[in-house]
Amino acid sequence: MAIWLLLLFLHLFSSSAVTTAKNIRHGFPSSIVQPEQRILGSKTGHELYEEKFFTQILDHFNYNPQSYETFQQRYLINDNYWGGGADKNAPIFVYTGNEGDIEWFAQNTGFMFETAPIFKALLLFIEHRYYGKSMPFGGSKERAYANSSTLGYLSATQALADYATLILDLKKNLTAIDSPVVVFGGSYGGMLAAWFRLKYPHVAVGALASSAPILNFDNITSPFSFNNIITHDFRSESENCYKVIKRSWQEIDDTAAKPGGLEILRKSFRICKNYISGEALKGWLGTAYTYTAMTDYPTPTNFLAPLPAYPVKQMCKAIDDPKTGNNTFEKLYGAANVYYNYTGDATCFDLADDSDPHGLGGWTWQACTEMILLTDGNTEDSIFPPNNYSYNDRFVFCKDNYNIEPRPTWIPTQFGAHNIYRVLKRFGSNIIFFNGLRDPWSGGGVLKDISKSLVAIVAKEGAHHVDLRFSTSEDPKWLEDVRNREVRIISKWLSQYYRTLAHSSDYYNN
Ligand SMILES: *[C@@H]1O[C@H](CO)[C@@H](O)[C@H](O)[C@H]1NC(C)=O
Ligand SMILES: *[C@@H]1O[C@H](CO)[C@@H](O)[C@H](O)[C@H]1NC(C)=O
Ligand SMILES: *[C@@H]1O[C@H](CO)[C@@H](O)[C@H](O)[C@H]1NC(C)=O
Ligand SMILES: *[C@@H]1O[C@H](CO)[C@@H](O)[C@H](O)[C@H]1NC(C)=O
Ligand SMILES: *[C@@H]1O[C@H](CO)[C@@H](O)[C@H](O)[C@H]1NC(C)=O
Ligand SMILES: *[C@@H]1O[C@H](CO)[C@@H](O)[C@H](O)[C@H]1NC(C)=O
Repeated sequence: MAIWLLLLFLHLFSSSAVTTAKNIRHGFPSSIVQPEQRILGSKTGHELYEEKFFTQILDHFNYNPQSYETFQQRYLINDNYWGGGADKNAPIFVYTGNEGDIEWFAQNTGFMFETAPIFKALLLFIEHRYYGKSMPFGGSKERAYANSSTLGYLSATQALADYATLILDLKKNLTAIDSPVVVFGGSYGGMLAAWFRLKYPHVAVGALASSAPILNFDNITSPFSFNNIITHDFRSESENCYKVIKRSWQEIDDTAAKPGGLEILRKSFRICKNYISGEALKGWLGTAYTYTAMTDYPTPTNFLAPLPAYPVKQMCKAIDDPKTGNNTFEKLYGAANVYYNYTGDATCFDLADDSDPHGLGGWTWQACTEMILLTDGNTEDSIFPPNNYSYNDRFVFCKDNYNIEPRPTWIPTQFGAHNIYRVLKRFGSNIIFFNGLRDPWSGGGVLKDISKSLVAIVAKEGAHHVDLRFSTSEDPKWLEDVRNREVRIISKWLSQYYRTLAHSSDYYNN
């Protein structure tokens, strides 16, 4: 099983003498949605969509000869529900792909498949450059990821320009110039959807930005919010559960430092024989708590591993189990089992496993250039060891790995984020910001309405882009309400668009 040690853990365990590249792993720890067996059933992705490629330009923003190089960008399309272009002008729903294989996101965005029939929408899922099969420099990941010179074309701005270029070209091909486009995305994909609406209002009439922490930059929201929310998720389940986890970091350190201590840890946690260290074990546990908090969904799900409904509750149940007495490691092992071994298939846990089945590796570059999401702070009350957020750690890591300096203020400069309520109130329109408050990323989200058409939908019980997931018969009412509200809002955008379109000849004489 893959172990997802993220950049966000870079500073989590600051006692660590060296931060090896091994400790820094892929991913917006967010792209967490899961293929839902119910709807997909026996269907493979290939029955849900057709895979196509578009010849995309390498660099949209200057006219040096190298900029004119091209690459094959993948997109997935489903026209089963589409009402057609030409005189019908049926809508086009576009998923603005995030940092991974686009098929994985498509198969996990049931909301689009479920709402397409209502709107007779064409579905389009566009892969982000440098992920999946959309590799510049000849299509090989090795070459595209070779060094900073080749990776330099991997940025959110380029990705948005790719999406605009591809959408407009496809509309032309389909003779669907006047079909309205609505963009959708979760997590980083949600940030892209929101920014796309702001930067390309002539291409998209609206955006559903789910769990998009667009304010988690440049100290706009607190660097402590991410881990505070994880802390709250566990603490509100049980005070004992929180305390056991909080105390455990020191106990792991103490044990690791004793002669024979690593063998005790290996036995307690059923770690495979190949590799163990106290730091790796702490990262492995921290990853489990973080991802479990993010995916604290109300129904059983399947992302990296299958999880029960409300997995935080299940973890705390294991920790609070009276049968484990005072044995901290036995308790934590029980909790880790919920995340890493819910199917019961694991024979031992491999701390050295750095496999990346969804191809999220490019995020390390993005997190070293412009995606300086501040999530690493831990207060004295944190479930993780206390530490102050330090930009310097990121800086050093990025310098070592890529010999480049991060630009922590670029995203707010390019897309805006400071004083967003004031700024967008007079400028933006037609964006839904969904956030579930159990999701640690919600701390960097837009949680209040900005205007009548810039709407924040906040679900107290919700986790990371839970609204975009396929629906199930066990979904709670609050979740059904969220999705129904989103459908109503999108419907309003479209009616508004068609009204304007019907009258546009009056204004523009075309
Ligand atoms: C970066 O990698 C590319 C592709 O392998 C290579 O052609 C180029 O010389 C490398 N550039 C630097 C600065 O190492
Ligand atoms: C539009 O059609 C042209 C010509 O067939 C093709 O090269 C291009 O890839 C198409 N665009 C998209 C987005 O598929
Ligand atoms: C955020 O605030 C901290 C502490 O006040 C400061 O050290 C840091 O440089 C600020 N900016 C960023 C981008 O981290
Ligand atoms: C657990 O620890 C507490 C205090 O540290 C002690 O009073 C109690 O007897 C212990 N229980 C077991 C089962 O060891
Ligand atoms: C995984 O769960 C199964 C079933 O509960 C158990 O037999 C097995 O030992 C567990 N694996 C590990 C590595 O703990
Ligand atoms: C964080 O910073 C505050 C204020 O500078 C300081 O009092 C505190 O000890 C620091 N905490 C850690 C864990 O370094």
